[in-house]
Amino acid sequence: MRLQHVPRAGRLLQGRGAWPRPRLNPGVRPCRDGMRESFDVAVVGGGVIGCALASELARRGASVVLLERERLAAGASYGAGGMLAPQVEAHGPGPLLELGLTARALFPDVAERLGGGFDLDLSGIVRVTFTEEGAAELRSRAEWQGRRGLQARILDAAEARDRVPGLAGDPRAALWVPDGQLDPARLTVALAEEAVRHGARVREGVPALHVGPGRVDTAAGPVVAGAVVVAAGAWSGPLTAAPGYPVKGQRVVLRLPGHPLRHTTWGDGCYLVPKAGGRVLVGATEEPEAGFDRRVTAEALARLLRAAAAVIPALAGAEVMEPWAGLRPGSPDGLPLIGPAPGLDGVWLATGHQRNGILLAPWTAHLIADALLEGAALPEACLPERFAVTGSGGAA
Ligand code: GLY
Repeated sequence: MRLQHVPRAGRLLQGRGAWPRPRLNPGVRPCRDGMRESFDVAVVGGGVIGCALASELARRGASVVLLERERLAAGASYGAGGMLAPQVEAHGPGPLLELGLTARALFPDVAERLGGGFDLDLSGIVRVTFTEEGAAELRSRAEWQGRRGLQARILDAAEARDRVPGLAGDPRAALWVPDGQLDPARLTVALAEEAVRHGARVREGVPALHVGPGRVDTAAGPVVAGAVVVAAGAWSGPLTAAPGYPVKGQRVVLRLPGHPLRHTTWGDGCYLVPKAGGRVLVGATEEPEAGFDRRVTAEALARLLRAAAAVIPALAGAEVMEPWAGLRPGSPDGLPLIGPAPGLDGVWLATGHQRNGILLAPWTAHLIADALLEGAALPEACLPERFAVTGSGGAA
């Protein structure tokens, strides 16, 4: 049935025999002892990028194994606010904005395909500021986004209060853009479930120790695959020598039952993302200097709580539910690394999505599936080779 999704056999599959289960390493026979089996593609990482990839590849008929060191959505895909926010996140026109807009437009179809279940909300994001400097920035943002043909509207005070009930007095400016949000952990799991429905194997608690041409070495034994795609978030760098690095983010979830916040609202120094059950996620710090440290610190928590109450004073009385810290996968130029890993034959990267991993996940999965299965070109701006690295395939 799923052959209908495969217009033609691609680069990985060409010349390898009958679709849909060509063995890409004909010399390696699947074997059932330990983990030694062969697949078309091994995906390393069970976050939203890895699960989107596994799902896209499996839907198109590839045999896929996904290897996750902990459990699905254990890292940034759990802690993220889940914003789909190319317009709010963009600092100006450029490739990241354009990729993000393309990616945002995919979500209604993703929700329809998966049958919902992850609280997709595309009703817009409000950005408010209480400073003159912030107001100038919002006006300039409305202007350049308008010139780009995007909706980006400065709200008057009454509209701002209507969209953000309980808003603190005297904001200097407010902007509305048609961005959105969703529940990232539930999206991740829904994608993994879809992958499994299409025949993918998902293995949790299996850390990848080494990746190399056609194989992943794990603590449970080797996994052989025609292609290995590393989507291990902040851990992709150590595993492949790619120039990715962790960018620590801290956030906290508050609970204020009955509070009518509907739209994600950015203030000065925080964003507030309303979630099911009267919860509001308050994010987030950005601490590239923290390395792999994942501790929640009192200073960051205090700062986030102060910033949240400065936007909606009632949040000062909310219950603190869940402080959390995690690692975004950073990239030196802010654009993701998508494509072959330089110096590591047969190994691909899908990482470096930094603040935009949830937004860019289905789009990244499409790109990699098109490239692996159909030989399609990848956007040059995202090719890892732009950093001219030489991979070593060293242990994570
Ligand atoms: N996209 C929001 C963040 O990374 O904090």
